[in-house]
Amino acid sequence: MEPHSFKHVVIGLIFSMTLLPSRSGSLAPCNFPAIFNFGDSNSDTGGLSAAFGQAPAPNGETYFHAPVGRYSDGRLVIDFIAESLGLPYLSAYLDSVGSNFSHGANFATAGSTIRPQNTTRSQSGFSPISLDVQSVQFSDFNRRSQIFNKQGVFDKLLPKEEYFSQALYTLDIGQNDLTAGYKLNLTTEQVKAYVPEVLRQFSDAVKRVYDQGGRAFWIHNTGPVGCLPYVLDRFLITAPQVDKYGCASPFNEVAQYFNRRLKDDVIRLRKELPLAAITYVDVYSVKYTLISQAKKFGFKLPLIACCGHGGKYNFNNSVRCGGKITVNGKEILIANSCQNPSVRVNWDGIHFTEAANKWIFEQIANGSFSDPPIPLKMACQRMDH
Ligand SMILES: *[C@@H]1O[C@H](CO)[C@@H](O)[C@H](O)[C@H]1NC(C)=O
Ligand SMILES: *[C@@H]1O[C@H](CO)[C@@H](O)[C@H](O)[C@H]1NC(C)=O
Ligand SMILES: *[C@@H]1O[C@H](CO)[C@@H](O)[C@H](O)[C@H]1NC(C)=O
Ligand SMILES: *[C@@H]1O[C@H](CO)[C@@H](O)[C@H](O)[C@H]1NC(C)=O
Ligand SMILES: *[C@@H]1O[C@H](CO)[C@@H](O)[C@H](O)[C@H]1NC(C)=O
Repeated sequence: MEPHSFKHVVIGLIFSMTLLPSRSGSLAPCNFPAIFNFGDSNSDTGGLSAAFGQAPAPNGETYFHAPVGRYSDGRLVIDFIAESLGLPYLSAYLDSVGSNFSHGANFATAGSTIRPQNTTRSQSGFSPISLDVQSVQFSDFNRRSQIFNKQGVFDKLLPKEEYFSQALYTLDIGQNDLTAGYKLNLTTEQVKAYVPEVLRQFSDAVKRVYDQGGRAFWIHNTGPVGCLPYVLDRFLITAPQVDKYGCASPFNEVAQYFNRRLKDDVIRLRKELPLAAITYVDVYSVKYTLISQAKKFGFKLPLIACCGHGGKYNFNNSVRCGGKITVNGKEILIANSCQNPSVRVNWDGIHFTEAANKWIFEQIANGSFSDPPIPLKMACQRMDH
C-alpha cells in the first residue's frame, strides 16, 4: 500500500486550522506533574542498561557526552516530551542508583514486546521486561510510593499520591512483537494472525493503569519498521518488495495493519474507560515522511546507520554500534559514529538520532498527527467525537 504521509501532513494542517482554534483554543493546559512511560528502546532511558549492561559509547555522545542508557546519540522523543512539559528526564524504574522519581518513572526497556516471548534474551534478543511485566512494576511502584511517601527519607524522590491520577501516561511499544514473528520465520499472514492477541494484551495494560487512577494516555503507534537498516539487512527481502524509497513493504504493511487495529482498540477503550482521555499519535506517518523526504527536511542517508560497521546499510549484526575488537590486548572501537549525526536520521540501524527524534517530537507535539487533534500539553482533555 502506498503510504499517505504527505496527505496526513495536509490533513493535519487543515485540522489544526479549522478545529484547533475553536476546540483546543478554549481548553486549559493540563500541567502534568509527572509522566509514566511504558515501551521499548524507542523510549528506554536506562532500563535495559540497568539490568543487562550499559549501552556502549558512542551512544549518548551528542547531548549527554557519555552513555546514559539510551540507544541514540542523544535525547529520545520521551526526553523532548518531558522537557516540553517542564519536567525532568525520566529515571528508569530499574535504575537503583541516582534515580529521582519525583516527577515520574520509565518502565520501558530496549527489546521489550507487548506479549511475553517464549525465548530467553540470549536466544532471541528480546527483553524479558515485556509490557505485562512493566505493568506489574508500575503497580508495585504506585503501591510502594504511597507507603514510603509517609516516611520522611524517600518522599523527595517519589511522586506525590495525587500525581498518579494527574500524570501523563505514555506508551510506545509494538514493533518488536512484529519482528519477533519474522525471526521465527513466520509468514506475514502468520504475523498478522497474532496481532489481535498482542493488542488485547496492550488494551489490558491500559485498563490496569486506568484501574489505578490513570486518566491521560498518549499512545504512539508503531513506526515503519521496514525502513530500518537492521530489518533490511537481516531479513530476506525480494526486489518487488522494496518500495520507491528503499523500504521493505511487507514489514511496513504489517506495521500499518497493527496501527489500524491499534486505532480501533483505542476507540473501544474510550468507550470502556469513560474518564480517560486517550490520544492516538500517528508516529508512523511522521517517521515515514522523514525517511522518504529526508532531504527536504535537512537530513540525508535515511536508510544508512550513522553508527555501525560497514555493509550496504552500515549495519553489521555481529558488530553493532559501539562494537570493539581486541588487537594485541588493546580494545579498538570498530563500529563508531559518523561525522555528523545532526544531519542523519538513523543512528545505529535500529534507532533514530537525536536530531531525528527532535524533528519527530516537533511534528507530534502540536497535535497535527493525533486523534483527537489536540496538543500534547492538553492531552488530559477528553474530547467526545
Ligand atoms: C505543528 O508543528 C510542525 C512542526 O513545527 C509545523 O510544521 C506544523 O505546521 C504545526 N501544525 C500546527 C497545526 O500548528
Ligand atoms: C528530584 O528532582 C526534582 C525535579 O527535578 C528536584 O526538584 C528535586 O530536588 C530532586 N530531589 C532530590 C532529592 O535530588
Ligand atoms: C508462548 O507459549 C504459549 C503456550 O504455548 C502461547 O500461548 C503463547 O502464545 C506463546 N507466546 C508467543 C509470543 O509465541
Ligand atoms: C529460520 O530460517 C533460517 C533460514 O532458513 C534458519 O537458519 C533459522 O534457523 C530459522 N529460524 C527458526 C527459529 O526456525
Ligand atoms: C561483520 O564484521 C565482521 C568483523 O569485521 C566481519 O568479519 C564480517 O564479515 C562482517 N559481516 C558482514 C555481513 O559484513
